[in-house]
Amino acid sequence: FYSNDNHVDIDPMYEGKIQIDSNVNTRVSTLTLKQATLRENRRIKCRVNIPGDTVGQTTATTSLVVLAPSDPVCKIKGTAEYWQNISLTCVSEEGSPLPTYKWQSYDVRNTPRSFPPKTTEDGVLSLFNISADTSGYFICTATNEIRSASCNLTLSV
Ligand SMILES: *[C@@H]1O[C@H](CO)[C@@H](O)[C@H](O)[C@H]1NC(C)=O
Ligand SMILES: *[C@@H]1O[C@H](CO)[C@@H](O)[C@H](O)[C@H]1NC(C)=O
Repeated sequence: FYSNDNHVDIDPMYEGKIQIDSNVNTRVSTLTLKQATLRENRRIKCRVNIPGDTVGQTTATTSLVVLAPSDPVCKIKGTAEYWQNISLTCVSEEGSPLPTYKWQSYDVRNTPRSFPPKTTEDGVLSLFNISADTSGYFICTATNEIRSASCNLTLSV
């Protein structure tokens, strides 16, 4: 909140995080948000009150979209036993625009192996007829325009 006696109110939750610069003469008020995170993905409304003036549009709203995938969560769907078919899922809850997912795999000695690597839209990697050879580490990386984030899943069959 800003009033023309230069009084500025900032919610304690946003102290040090935002700055409001207003100029009544140029009729411009600027809200600066520092180090935006996914928490700031929201609608932001500006309301103007002019004493004695009751006509016209007094509010305007904009949407802030912070581009970053959150740390993905890797899970095993199915039973990690011989000859089973299982799926490894990778989900990044937040993130706009939607991230793409890439799976990479390392054997139990942490040596990269050529299967999968696989890029999927939905983050699901299907493994068929698994055995001890399938055991190892599976790394999923969620990527969008801003950053990448990974999870590391240990599979022991
Ligand atoms: C799974 O793998 C084993 C060993 O390689 C093979 O004997 C079996 O036929 C396979 N099962 C299926 C359903 O492909
Ligand atoms: C995945 O986790 C295992 C076990 O904690 C570790 O040895 C391995 O280096 C990790 N791999 C990556 C790429 O982070």
